[in-house]
Amino acid sequence: MQQPRIIVVDPAGPGGLPYSRLLARLHPLELRHERFLDAALGSLARDAWDLAILAARSGPRPDTLLASLRKADPQLPVIVIDPKPEVATARACLQAETCDYLELDRAEADLESSAERLLSGSRRRAAEEVLRRAVERPYSFAGFLGESPAMREVYSLIERVAASSVDVLVTGETGTGKELVARAIHGASRRAAGPFVPVDCGAIPDALLESELFGHERGAFTGADARRMGLVEFADGGTLFLDVVGELPLPLQAKLLRVLQERRVRRVGARQENPVDVRVVAATSRPIDQMVAEGAFRRDLFYRINVVRIDLPPLRDRGDDIGLLAEFFANRAAQEMGRPVGGLSTDVYQVLAGYHWPGNVRELQNVVRRAIALTRSPAAGIDDLPDEVVAAAGRPAASDAGASGFIARRAEHVARFEKQFLTELLTRHQGDVTAAAREAKLPRGTLYRLMKGHGLDGASFRKERT
Ligand SMILES: Nc1ncnc2c1ncn2[C@@H]1O[C@H](COP(=O)(O)OP(=O)(O)OP(=O)(O)O)[C@@H](O)[C@H]1O
Ligand SMILES: [Mg+2]
Repeated sequence: MQQPRIIVVDPAGPGGLPYSRLLARLHPLELRHERFLDAALGSLARDAWDLAILAARSGPRPDTLLASLRKADPQLPVIVIDPKPEVATARACLQAETCDYLELDRAEADLESSAERLLSGSRRRAAEEVLRRAVERPYSFAGFLGESPAMREVYSLIERVAASSVDVLVTGETGTGKELVARAIHGASRRAAGPFVPVDCGAIPDALLESELFGHERGAFTGADARRMGLVEFADGGTLFLDVVGELPLPLQAKLLRVLQERRVRRVGARQENPVDVRVVAATSRPIDQMVAEGAFRRDLFYRINVVRIDLPPLRDRGDDIGLLAEFFANRAAQEMGRPVGGLSTDVYQVLAGYHWPGNVRELQNVVRRAIALTRSPAAGIDDLPDEVVAAAGRPAASDAGASGFIARRAEHVARFEKQFLTELLTRHQGDVTAAAREAKLPRGTLYRLMKGHGLDGASFRKERT
């Protein structure tokens, strides 16, 4: 809170106490004067205030006024100025930590220190709120962030799949969140209390993969000096996540298919089979349909795991999610690194939106973390981004007058449109973000982010009444 916003309710109007002068040390501040409680309540509903001063010269008793104010905004610090002090009223007012009670005779002397005390409390609360919002995810589903239609469809599929026991194939480019999907399905399923066992089919040497997956008996092969349970059995009662499934060698594909069909495993070198109860979630970023067509992946296994397919959209197709994710990663990085960086500048958002993100969310996360770690400015700027990102996305027009690339020109148009749209919208609603978001059919968080990006704030659209 830089400039405290104080609302005064005093039936005597500007002829009452000289509030501006009494609060001189707090300047600059924004002071609004209301004669009547009703008008003040209206202001409270529309705007955010840091402090209310209530002078109960006539009309209802101060504790009644206070109760009405509290109902409108339970957090708001209040100073009550009472011309006819009574112990009961004073006690009622002082019960709350965020309320001061001043007798009218003492008001001139004590108003300022009281206001300072209460404002420092609300400054602390405002800081806590910023922190809380930074940590809280704007729209999240089981660890996912993003509200684009494509991702909402993914969430809904995950929910439906989790409730059943079918095997699932997750496809999508690298870094799109395939492992996150697997974990979300497990976490939302009846198996959540059971194990989640990831197997990286590409990282384990072929020679070891069979016994890793299915286990072995003692003496099954040279070096097998003890019997060992495989990962499939390990996942009994839970979820087996076969990552990079396209790398699974063909002979093992056949054996895996048997396990999935029979729900039984035979360890290497064993005679009998053991029953297992697993759900398989497999993931690949390779074009698996094409691999099937070319014979590099068994068609029968493909049909078996492709019962339900969740295809993650590339980040570049998720529209506004890029900004949402970037902001979240920036806040988190600043907090983790203990850097006093206030996020990313507007032109950074423009560059990020124009880049094609071959490494998707993982790449975005790395780019943003790096910018937060390197920057020397209050907000990370374009110069803190890797050259290849800026070169590929095109600098925004403001800092590159000669930009003529399609993406740069489009970003420029979009930015101009956004600013005009927001200005008109906020003017229409006098800075009431909730009402504006409703009209624009945008989530409030998105609207706030857009406003922030264009340096607009609701307060400057409020019609001042004096
Ligand atoms: N929608 C999202 N919201 C927040 N974080 C995400 C989202 N999608 C991915 N991430 C994060 O991005 C990183 C990459 O995700 P993940 O490992 O699930 O991708 P992947 O598709 O398995 O990639 P690869 O194909 O390279 O294995 C992780 O740190 C993950 O937490
Ligand atoms: Mg992965």
